[in-house]
Amino acid sequence: PIPVIIDCDTGVDDALALLLAVRHPRLDLRAVTCVAGNTDVAGVVRNTLTVLERAGAPDVPVARGAERPLIEGVRTARHVHGADGMGDLGLPAPTRAPADVDAVTLLRREILASPRPVTLIPTAPLTNIALLLRTHPEVTGNIERIVFMGGAVATGNATPVAEFNVWHDPEAAAILLTAGVPITMYGLDVFERVIVPGTHVRRLRASAEPGTRLAGDLLAHRGPATDASDPGGGLGDAGAVCAVIDPEGLTTRRLPVEVSLAPGPARGQTLVDRRLRAGESELHDGVREQPLVDVALDVDVARYVELYLGAVERTEA
Ligand code: BDR
Ligand code: CA
Repeated sequence: PIPVIIDCDTGVDDALALLLAVRHPRLDLRAVTCVAGNTDVAGVVRNTLTVLERAGAPDVPVARGAERPLIEGVRTARHVHGADGMGDLGLPAPTRAPADVDAVTLLRREILASPRPVTLIPTAPLTNIALLLRTHPEVTGNIERIVFMGGAVATGNATPVAEFNVWHDPEAAAILLTAGVPITMYGLDVFERVIVPGTHVRRLRASAEPGTRLAGDLLAHRGPATDASDPGGGLGDAGAVCAVIDPEGLTTRRLPVEVSLAPGPARGQTLVDRRLRAGESELHDGVREQPLVDVALDVDVARYVELYLGAVERTEA
């Protein structure tokens, strides 16, 4: 299996991502690190531990990370994710505490200890990852790729042009993009399209298996889908995990990406330069060279929905 570490702000759809990573046989989830985003970092830690217990993976190490972005203040998304940051589903408190090391320390330790290069899957503001890259740059030698949920080619959610994870900590995102390792940007353009139809959501919610039922409840919280008569729910961050398991389901192009850092209405926007022609590695028109990123442009929705359902229902008889 592929060794992976998820850095998250659990988060309804981060929880969906964790369930998939725990249950898919092609992944070896080695650690989970937490960062402030959808809710405060203490809430993220609690939600993450609860989800891992529900998923049947109570031993995966979990560490608490940054409690605020590098420069910005905390700006949670509880209006989207509920007062508890995870859909107010009334889940029990976790029975264990997080690791006694911080997120950056755990990331370094697990990356360097892995016999095979690790794939990092950040599904949250990139504060922990930026701190890791600046504190322990040697980790890049054992990182296979970073597949992050964040940014967008042509849309926004936190602002008209900026996606939440990048907007929450734009400087951290800029540090990630210049990490010098292969990067896939699973942005809003594809993120918003992968929706599980209501008939499947209802089946999951009726399951006797607690992890499967949780996936259904989380998806129901993420609805309604475009068709209000069939309220399904988006996979959200779990789509980035699908992209690691099954990269063929994603259409990407290697393009220059820059984060807008200037104060003002475009702060946190990802500027994806689609002028690059096939076979070119840099622009020659006086435009500043930017790091090249594999930007997700299209996704096979049915394929990722099937992949997700197959994994979360797998433990059932
Ligand atoms: C991203 O922000 C969070 O609210 C979601 O969990 C997802 O990671 C979407 O912009
Ligand atoms: Ca998230």
